[in-house]
Amino acid sequence: MSRRVAFYSHPLGSDELRSLERTLGDVFISAGPRAAEFEEAFAHHVGAAHAVGVSSCSMGLVLALRALGVGPGDEVVTTPLSFLSTGNAALHAGARVVFADIDPRTGLIDADAVEAAITSRTRAIVVVHLYGQLADLSRFRRIADRHGIALVEDAAPAIEASRDGVRAGSAGDLAVFSFNALKEMTSGEGGAIVTNDAGLARRVRDLAFHGIDTQAVGDPGGGYRHYEMLQLGFKASLTDIQAALLLPQLGKLAARRASREGVAARYDRLLAEVPQLELTQRIGTSSHSTFAVRVPFGRRDSVLTEMERRGIGCKVHYRATHIHPYYRDVLGFRREQAPRAADFGDRVLSLPLWPGLPPRDVDHVAETLAAVLAEPGGATK
Ligand SMILES: Cc1ncc(COP(=O)(O)O)c(C=O)c1O
Repeated sequence: MSRRVAFYSHPLGSDELRSLERTLGDVFISAGPRAAEFEEAFAHHVGAAHAVGVSSCSMGLVLALRALGVGPGDEVVTTPLSFLSTGNAALHAGARVVFADIDPRTGLIDADAVEAAITSRTRAIVVVHLYGQLADLSRFRRIADRHGIALVEDAAPAIEASRDGVRAGSAGDLAVFSFNALKEMTSGEGGAIVTNDAGLARRVRDLAFHGIDTQAVGDPGGGYRHYEMLQLGFKASLTDIQAALLLPQLGKLAARRASREGVAARYDRLLAEVPQLELTQRIGTSSHSTFAVRVPFGRRDSVLTEMERRGIGCKVHYRATHIHPYYRDVLGFRREQAPRAADFGDRVLSLPLWPGLPPRDVDHVAETLAAVLAEPGGATK
């Protein structure tokens, strides 16, 4: 039996267990004091004035767009090379999604394509920090300001990322991070929205709790106040249980990033000369959340299957959103509307990458991939 290399190994251990035990000993387990403690610590960590914990980044993106007032009749420009959450958020807000194509070297959303896609109906741009490296935030901020529209960062995998001295979360009107199992820190599921705008933070918080005026409930002074719903919202808060798992991880993020960087550098060295393989160009300080490579057209699925058969966990990040049946058949999108993203998504494959992945496992993954690619290619996509 050949060696197995897992795609991912979650980093939760004794610190998180102790923190969880403390929370389970308290009265609160849903959104209470530990969630508030985490929000404050997370805002401080990313350098934002406010953070609001949410149930997932997917939900956070919907809340962000709704808080900005995006709705029916509006257009949201974003990239199709992301998890479905990004495009779907615009749809859930009631807007039309407009896909701008990518830079095929990095997979990141292309600023020229975004500019070309902006119309008088555009209300927001949502950029994605794909694989943990930042979209060109300085340029996108300028574009958004010039057109008087909002900028949202889908910063799902990018807590520790920066570019040209700019950190994730610092240029968008709102930025949304993910704490799902594959991200830099995890509570199984979860996310956080950060912003420097107190009004937006409050709107997001209210929308995450059924549109109730969260500042006025309970006893904010002056006696008991009934909860009052002022707008249609969701139930999407981060819980104290999730916060208990997240709090001890904040101080470990930098070391974990450095460890992933070592893994990525080793892959870079080992894979640089492998025929038929294209590495993804990196820009700035990546959080190295994903190591994505591209194989020749028509070979991705057979390579993926063969890697799995040989005991190596691989995944696809991502198939382009606009070629999914719902987008194609129900919404009428065509592959040619963002051909570079469609092509990238048909060829891309993610290799195992997690803090502490042993060098001999990295070597084994690289050797196996080179061997699989050297075999005659299958024709499946
Ligand atoms: C770029 C991107 N955006 C959004 C999401 C959604 O995050 P969540 O799983 O927290 O909803 C993901 C998750 O994989 C992602 O990678």
